[in-house]
Amino acid sequence: MQPGVWRLTLGEPEAHTPSSVFSYQPAESGLREMPNVEDCPLSVDAITGKQISRGFQVTLPLGVDEQLYGLGLQLFSMNQRGKKKTLRVNSDPVADTGDSHAPVPFYVTTSGYGVLVDTLRYMTVYCGSAARRLDADCASSKPGGAASSAAGAEELYESQARSGDAQVIIDIPSARGVDLYLFAGPDMQQAVQRYNLFSGSGCLPPMWGLGVWYRCKSDFTELDVLAMAEKFRNDGIPCDVIGLEPGWQSHAYSCSHIWGPKFPQPKQMMTRLSEMGLHVNLWTHAFTHPSSPIHEQLSSRSGDFLVWGGLVPDFADPEARRIFADFHKKEHVDLGAPAPAPTASWLPRGASGYKMDECDNSDFIRSAWSFPEVSNFPSGLDGEQMHSAFGRLYQQTIQSIFDGMGRRTYGQVRSSWSLSAALPYVLYSDLYDHKAFIRGVVTSGFSGLLWGPEVRHAVSAEDLIRRIQTVVFSPKAQVNAWYIKNPPWEQWIRNANNADQLHEDREWVTETIKRLFEVRMQFLPYLYSSFVKYHQTGVPPFRALVMEDPTDPNLQNIDDAYMMGDRALVAPVVAGINERDLYLPKGAWRDFQTGERYEGGQSHHFDVPLDKTLVFVKDNSVLPLAQPVQNVSDPALRQITVNVYGSGELGCTLFEDNGEDMEYKRGQMNTVRLAWDSSTQSAHLARSGNVQAPRYEVGGWNQIS
Ligand code: GAL
Repeated sequence: MQPGVWRLTLGEPEAHTPSSVFSYQPAESGLREMPNVEDCPLSVDAITGKQISRGFQVTLPLGVDEQLYGLGLQLFSMNQRGKKKTLRVNSDPVADTGDSHAPVPFYVTTSGYGVLVDTLRYMTVYCGSAARRLDADCASSKPGGAASSAAGAEELYESQARSGDAQVIIDIPSARGVDLYLFAGPDMQQAVQRYNLFSGSGCLPPMWGLGVWYRCKSDFTELDVLAMAEKFRNDGIPCDVIGLEPGWQSHAYSCSHIWGPKFPQPKQMMTRLSEMGLHVNLWTHAFTHPSSPIHEQLSSRSGDFLVWGGLVPDFADPEARRIFADFHKKEHVDLGAPAPAPTASWLPRGASGYKMDECDNSDFIRSAWSFPEVSNFPSGLDGEQMHSAFGRLYQQTIQSIFDGMGRRTYGQVRSSWSLSAALPYVLYSDLYDHKAFIRGVVTSGFSGLLWGPEVRHAVSAEDLIRRIQTVVFSPKAQVNAWYIKNPPWEQWIRNANNADQLHEDREWVTETIKRLFEVRMQFLPYLYSSFVKYHQTGVPPFRALVMEDPTDPNLQNIDDAYMMGDRALVAPVVAGINERDLYLPKGAWRDFQTGERYEGGQSHHFDVPLDKTLVFVKDNSVLPLAQPVQNVSDPALRQITVNVYGSGELGCTLFEDNGEDMEYKRGQMNTVRLAWDSSTQSAHLARSGNVQAPRYEVGGWNQIS
């Protein structure tokens, strides 16, 4: 199909599949630039598909030591080898079953290829966990069978599961066939790159989207929001985006999509916020209340069940998407004013983006709320298919507003599916286990997704600080204070916070949090460049360490440390932990702050006092750090200091553009190559391109070691 991508049709695929229902545009030039691969990564003869009474069954080979990753956002485990996973969209997964906000029928293995199953069904994958009976088994014992002397039942199960070549078995209920897409490597990271490029390549958020986000309490009024914004500026705490929660709408849940009485002058509020350098993100969901001006138009273009009394728009219908998008643009993004002509620098007057809530599904809570699988939609999708597709199609709907304006956005979404890398939306959850939140950063990167380990309340100052340390080194640095009145650094205990009982330790905690947000701002140019690389090459900006070296078994199960861009490795810890062992990938690494050198390919023991986040930088590289500005509109963001680690000869690349429009898609960016020559002790800065854009200026080079 595309270079390094093969499609294999088994049986008769369904009419409604991700590739037929979603819009996506493979990034052909990016795919062409990948290393040329002649042969399909898996022998087609080794893949079988057959119709069975419950649907369709696909079998693929899996080698003895082959480890398997992906399947979308998986909060409970990273390495899927030996597991059985059912990919159902669900907002409250309670166990490691595959239920997730964003399961994705795509996996990659350490053998360096990826497999996309083009289905919207709740498929089950047996990741080497099912042993099919072979004729040979009847005659002799299983080849390479496990010793039966394993100490405990658990070990016995595991050793049995890992012996011999295995299979990946995929069970797709009610289908009569399916298309598989196979992505070549040759290594695992390249297979992921090809999948991302095929999906349309990685998204590039606007620069402001990478700053600090703060979502206000749901019942805040316009004046409360403005007061919170002033407070951030008075306290000198960085912030780029203010998020409004349900209370801004005249009706939620379900949604009217119009401003309610708490926000009598939204236009003035937006103007004031934008003067303060703040963007506004609006919470919303798709279920459309009878009081919504688009209710009538959507009525014949919705499913046959209601959610919270609201219509479920059939987002597989282009006209339903258009009605929904046009109204949102007019009411919130333009705020009634005509769209501005594209200019180099946007003065946002309306909403800069959305948080698309509840587009997942709910099965495991007391009061399940979403539409049932037996629903039908006018486009022909059934409820099961629509659950898989809904979050993805919702993103596409909202994205059409910003694409049409030539303007970038960055937002949030609670559900996604395959072919989504190009959509600039970060996943989130009501779950709150910090360890699982760190794992989410790692697992989402296998399948073209971004995950935000947002911070809400905390049980202690330590818990709050540890959570903030994670979120500042994640795709989206967000505090979601939707149920707390005061910022959590003034009181992290929820009830006390809402009773205005501020904590006696708030001063030092606030200082600590402020410093961490400043670190986020310092990393922005680097982080932005990591996203540019995501766009250009499909390399995920946040990814598991195993992607660095899939052949190293020591990396294959690390789910609490990850790469951020090409140079930085982050290993957050949760409250209660103040030391940890960490195996570093081969090569040498430097402590980000002290420059101390650690040999990779081995484990190290680290003390992690509360004021420390474990961040390492590849030895012999450089890391540009910005001024710790309050928001990205401050030109000082472009004044950088370059940290030099070791010889510095590996250098680092930054990209310059206005950070807001879509011109980057036409290559409109300057490239700034930074490197240090240790033999002459001299700095090198090479700029190519002559795009009119704010330029980085290097204020100094710091030899860290
Ligand atoms: C939840 C969402 C939260 C918050 C809340 C507001 O569904 O996950 O982040 O937005 O709704 O009611």
